[in-house]
Amino acid sequence: MHKLSWLTVLFLATVHVASVTVEEPQTVLDIPIAGQTITVEEPQTVSDIPIAGQTINDEPSGKWYKFNSTIERVAVIGAGPAGLQAAATFVKHNFTVRLFDRAPGPGGNWLYSDEIPVRESYPDAPAVEEHWIPEELPASEYYNEGDDDLTLDSRWREHWQPRSIWDSLHTNSPAVITELPDVPYPPDHSWVISAHTIGAHVRAYASIHNLNANDNSSVHSYSTRVEKLSKRPDGNGWTLTLKHLKKLEEPDRLKATWWTEDFDAVFVAPGPYTSPHVPEIDGLLQWSNVRAVDDPSLFSVYHSRVYRRPERYTGKTVLVIGVGTSGSEIARDIAPVAKKIYASHKEYADWDTLHPFQRRSFRRFPDETEFVPKISHFESLSSLDNGIKDGKIVLVNGTVLENIDEVILATGYKRSNPFHLSVLNQTFGAESLEAPPPSDVFTGPALKYVHWTGHFIPDPTLAFSTIRPWTAGQYQYYGQAKVWEGTAHLPNEAGLWAQYNSTRYTFFRGLFGTAPSEAIVRQYVTWLNNESLENGGRLVSPWPVQNREVFAYYANQEWEKDYLSKENFTKFENIPDRQWTQKDIWDISVFEDDSW
Ligand SMILES: Cc1cc2nc3c(=O)[nH]c(=O)nc-3n(C[C@H](O)[C@H](O)[C@H](O)COP(=O)(O)OP(=O)(O)OC[C@H]3O[C@@H](n4cnc5c(N)ncnc54)[C@H](O)[C@@H]3O)c2cc1C
Ligand SMILES: NC(=O)c1ccc[n+]([C@@H]2O[C@H](COP(=O)([O-])OP(=O)(O)OC[C@H]3O[C@@H](n4cnc5c(N)ncnc54)[C@H](OP(=O)(O)O)[C@@H]3O)[C@@H](O)[C@H]2O)c1
Repeated sequence: MHKLSWLTVLFLATVHVASVTVEEPQTVLDIPIAGQTITVEEPQTVSDIPIAGQTINDEPSGKWYKFNSTIERVAVIGAGPAGLQAAATFVKHNFTVRLFDRAPGPGGNWLYSDEIPVRESYPDAPAVEEHWIPEELPASEYYNEGDDDLTLDSRWREHWQPRSIWDSLHTNSPAVITELPDVPYPPDHSWVISAHTIGAHVRAYASIHNLNANDNSSVHSYSTRVEKLSKRPDGNGWTLTLKHLKKLEEPDRLKATWWTEDFDAVFVAPGPYTSPHVPEIDGLLQWSNVRAVDDPSLFSVYHSRVYRRPERYTGKTVLVIGVGTSGSEIARDIAPVAKKIYASHKEYADWDTLHPFQRRSFRRFPDETEFVPKISHFESLSSLDNGIKDGKIVLVNGTVLENIDEVILATGYKRSNPFHLSVLNQTFGAESLEAPPPSDVFTGPALKYVHWTGHFIPDPTLAFSTIRPWTAGQYQYYGQAKVWEGTAHLPNEAGLWAQYNSTRYTFFRGLFGTAPSEAIVRQYVTWLNNESLENGGRLVSPWPVQNREVFAYYANQEWEKDYLSKENFTKFENIPDRQWTQKDIWDISVFEDDSW
């Protein structure tokens, strides 16, 4: 079989493959597609990338990337929908797998708990948490109630970080795109799924793959936080520094154990929403220290990730800051009991330019909400002992809000991956962190120096979850297993950089059903099947077309009428490729609409 070149596969995959004739490109710069030539941005040469003061080897060692040694031991960080699927896939491919999660069980974001995370930092903290690690490892310590002025409960919650979901939360994505393989929801399930149902669904997936907390397996290690990910001194493989926390009952105390484990390869999936974003607003720091009058164990200002149930807001006037999904859904939840709800939002140019998700959030706020502009500052309180009710909140238009009992910061998350930042720092130095981290699943830039397959280009023994785990994750994790076992190739380092620089499909972009997100699935299916035919392995199918149909109904009804238009799906299928304009090809293959 004629083996397609990497770039050819890439472009074939993104331009509705079958009828396009593609010749082998002469150079990465001139890529002939359907009789036209598309010139892509000149790739950054490998030797331009400084690593810790050196330059990396720019001698191509052949067409494909070659690993220094066989990969046998693989670590997975995170047991959410991404990490669980990756771990199950790697086990199936006969790697020796270790799966670590700081939480006491699988589920990731969907592991509901009445416990709440320890208080977020005021002012905002950096995305990379620094934890104390004993100098000599392995090591253990015991903690009693009140040691170092900390309760056992707060140590426990700090370790595992209870999730941001609340009791009544339902998905804002339909079941058809929020489902793991192998464990279908019951046939009469609703459009959207409750957090409790989805939690059970993810646990069921873990169970059938022997990854649940009570499964007797050497693979998983729960209540185990990965404190550090570092390259081994000999340059081959990675060392994970781990901390396990265990509740001991007699006497009531905690045991912490630290140790290290070495791996040939690591897959990183700590979740997209690990650290809350606390906005910088004058006076917020002082207000954040004020205890609630009705319950001095609580504060009156919290980030939305702490929200669990509406009761606490009964009869109160609540200011919700931020009008994304957390803001609108929490406002709906508390509306039946709250006395009054204000929602503060940034100034947006006009309704039409808002992202459809943002429009949906505005629409979903309860009718009684009073929308107000952004906050200018919180006026200084004369006393910290009487709650915040007597305080004044000044808005950017000069209006003053008074008599507020509670403030909920529904201001989102930092959207940065702490392991990615730390590896960038170790590899390239602090200046590599200057670029802003991904801001949003839909609009953020790719993880820096990460190939579309999730591999970290300077060292592809490290891979990240960069794709929506429910829908396309299965392709990414299968691809990573194939690359590490040698049944799929990555291009050599120069080729990896060339692809990184010449396509923006290095990450999930656009929502399922739209051209960009379909393109990445096509890209995976084409690549994986091509590699399996050449090197062995099962073939994969594209996403079932009936799922797309169900999703289209949901999206049109729930998000936006005509959100998924006929044109969105069929434009390119109905026009013979010879009639495609250069802009059409551009739209569907390389560049997507900037507003998405
Ligand atoms: C409030 C809220 C509502 C959401 N609603 C939806 C929805 O309706 N539909 C939808 O599709 N998505 C929703 N999401 C997005 C959600 O993140 C994804 O559905 C999905 O859970 C992502 O899977 P993941 O495996 O990548 O990450 P996660 O599910 O977040 O799992 C990551 C895991 O990594 C672990 N981890 C992190 N750091 C470490 C460490 N240092 N050591 C060990 N383990 C670590 C965490 O404990 C966690 O278990 C929502 C997110 C939030 C915050
Ligand atoms: N299933 C569900 O129902 C559900 C519930 C909650 C969350 N989620 C998911 O979880 C993820 C996070 O959602 P999220 O709502 O927590 O975060 P988000 O989508 O990032 O929304 C945060 C909002 O806060 C605004 N904001 C930030 N600083 C502000 C300030 N100083 N003043 C006023 N507004 C400010 C942001 O505005 P800008 O964007 O303009 O900066 C944004 O609208 C999303 O993927 C969401 O879909 C799902």
